Amino acid sequence: MKRPIVVSGIRPTGYLHLGNYFGAVRSFVKMQESYNCYFFIADLHSLTTHPTPDNLQAGVKQVLSEYLACGIDPEKATIFIQSDVPEVTELYTFLNMNAYLGELERTTSFKEKARQNPENVNAGLLTYPVLMAADIIIHKAQFVPVGKDQEQNLEMARKFAGRFNRMYNCELFPLPQPFTFDGGDMIKVPGLDGSGKMGKSEGNGIFLYEDPKEIRKKVMRAVTDAGPTIMNSPKPEPIENLFTLMKIVSDPDIVQKFDEAYARCEIRYGDMKKQLAEDIVNFTAPIRERILDILKDEEYMARVAKTGAEKARESAQATLKEVKQLIGVKRLF
Ligand code: TYM
Repeated sequence: MKRPIVVSGIRPTGYLHLGNYFGAVRSFVKMQESYNCYFFIADLHSLTTHPTPDNLQAGVKQVLSEYLACGIDPEKATIFIQSDVPEVTELYTFLNMNAYLGELERTTSFKEKARQNPENVNAGLLTYPVLMAADIIIHKAQFVPVGKDQEQNLEMARKFAGRFNRMYNCELFPLPQPFTFDGGDMIKVPGLDGSGKMGKSEGNGIFLYEDPKEIRKKVMRAVTDAGPTIMNSPKPEPIENLFTLMKIVSDPDIVQKFDEAYARCEIRYGDMKKQLAEDIVNFTAPIRERILDILKDEEYMARVAKTGAEKARESAQATLKEVKQLIGVKRLF
């Protein structure tokens, strides 16, 4: 039986953090066993914020090493760099003709980014979801493992895929569905600064590559409060976030222990943070070691990227050929 197709990518804008790992990468590692997976580094998407060439190069290398260090296996999954597959940008051009200004302007992440950086509201930012749709549908993906923050972008990908099918009276593109690690809701890994999600641009990331000492410092600095004074009271957001992170990295009985202590108003946040820091370090330290090793082997990384690009291009070219035929941009003379 043919394996269902999976596509996902990460922008090379910094070290991978726990949000990237638990929102996306751990699903990649799981899915490669039984799906036909395409995992890439979204270097074109990262151009919206104008990195220097050196930063861009370093970022691509870093994420590639991190993919491999996390256990994505080039023998099982196709690992590639987005800009090595120019067919994607060709499909992006076609999709742009049927993507409307109003719907692009209404996208939450566009509005947010435009508000944060009013001096850099470029067309690439506006059409970001179109490029993302092209990434996904060029391989006819059925599943896309991503975190909650990508939900709307994925919805747009379904919209553009469906619109193309209707417009050209075909069923070329499956409508890509989100995939979550445990089959539950899409997740948002929180930061430890009181509210919101962990993010590269939020400045609250705990990185896989990070030195254990630094991780301990960051966790010990996490925002807490004076502690509950009424038994079984609900947790305010900063405390809930601490528990959410603990549920992700620690054993369930440890979480339960602190949960019960909280309910009895006996919680000691210092102890909880120490435990959380150790559990994070236990998880990240072996990955960090592997990243350091892989970064030394540029030849290996180049080989992985080259083989991945060839496989991804083969799949992309096949789809693009069909697209061109349907649209009519195929020479008949
Ligand atoms: P990016 O680079 O911002 O994030 C990469 C992945 O990490 C997930 N993620 C999180 N998940 C849970 N909690 C968090 N705090 C958290 N922070 C980040 C993201 O949901 C994502 O899965 N637009 C994409 C890149 C992209 C893409 C694609 C993804 C380009 N084309 C095609 C899938 C398919 C992005 O900026 O991800």
